[in-house]
Amino acid sequence: MKDWLQTLPKAELHLHIEGTLEPELMFELAARNDVALPYASIEEVRAAYNFTNLQSFLDLYYQGMNVLYTEQDFYDLAMAYFERAHQDGVVHIELSFDPQPHLSRGVAMRTLFAGLGQAREEAERRFGMSTALIMSFLRDRSTEEAMDVLEQAAPWYEQIDAVGLDSAELGNPPEKFAAVFERARTLGIARLAHAGEEGPAAYISGALDVLDVCRIDHGVRCVEDEALVARLANEQIPLTVCPLSNVYLKVFERLEDHTLPAMLDHGLCVTLNSDDPAYFGGGMLNNFVACHEAFGWDEDAFRSLARNAIEAAFMSESRREQLL
Ligand code: ADE
Ligand code: ZN
Repeated sequence: MKDWLQTLPKAELHLHIEGTLEPELMFELAARNDVALPYASIEEVRAAYNFTNLQSFLDLYYQGMNVLYTEQDFYDLAMAYFERAHQDGVVHIELSFDPQPHLSRGVAMRTLFAGLGQAREEAERRFGMSTALIMSFLRDRSTEEAMDVLEQAAPWYEQIDAVGLDSAELGNPPEKFAAVFERARTLGIARLAHAGEEGPAAYISGALDVLDVCRIDHGVRCVEDEALVARLANEQIPLTVCPLSNVYLKVFERLEDHTLPAMLDHGLCVTLNSDDPAYFGGGMLNNFVACHEAFGWDEDAFRSLARNAIEAAFMSESRREQLL
């Protein structure tokens, strides 16, 4: 089954490029940029990846990305992931990036777009891979800062397929970012948000009603609200579920306890994704294989999940036809 899952053409819609930073590259970039790391070895980094919840992961995630400074660094980070994903049989990637932690360390906005843009072009040339770019705002920082990031990105709006909302969910409801997302809507930029990962089902409804998002990242807690489940099913709102991430962050104790089978029973538009593969036990193929082992899904089930992702992706209609 693993071989078959590798050959299945997969689109990844929920991937934080900073969450693809493997410890080996972290050490290489730390040396290149003269950044001190709080770890003595690669093994020590891996041993620290022992999370109790979303915040315990975010603390390490923001610390890890502190080694990224130059255009070359962002290029190397993205290119290393595109190569691994290509080996997993991924044919389309929608990479999200978080400008705020980088801008706070003095990295220029153009450095981010240039490095990631160059890697995207190279992935298309070398692997025939299509990509889309999602610029995410940190929901645990202020609305004003998010608005400022959106304005600073003006020279690169053409490169942005959507804006997103991530980081610490609890206590940071979608409504906080109503004005920022309204501005994005006015600019003609599509909108997404993490919701219902650790936060309640009400955050999913809020993201749909107030932020006017076209997809929900995670959304696994939707099952707690029957009316919301019916709405998600009726409107076929795509949910970018990240199975291994949810287990690593203790949203579910074991994959067998995940709400994924219930979500499919309700007729929801589910897609499978890796979220932060360097931190959560691997990329797309590992997520697909883990679901096969936990739920016993057959080829038809995976074909349908892969189709959902291609249908929900930001890609040209000709590319979509090619992949369907
Ligand atoms: N940023 C990176 N990964 C995240 C996740 N799983 N949830 C929220 N914010 C994130
Ligand atoms: Zn995420």
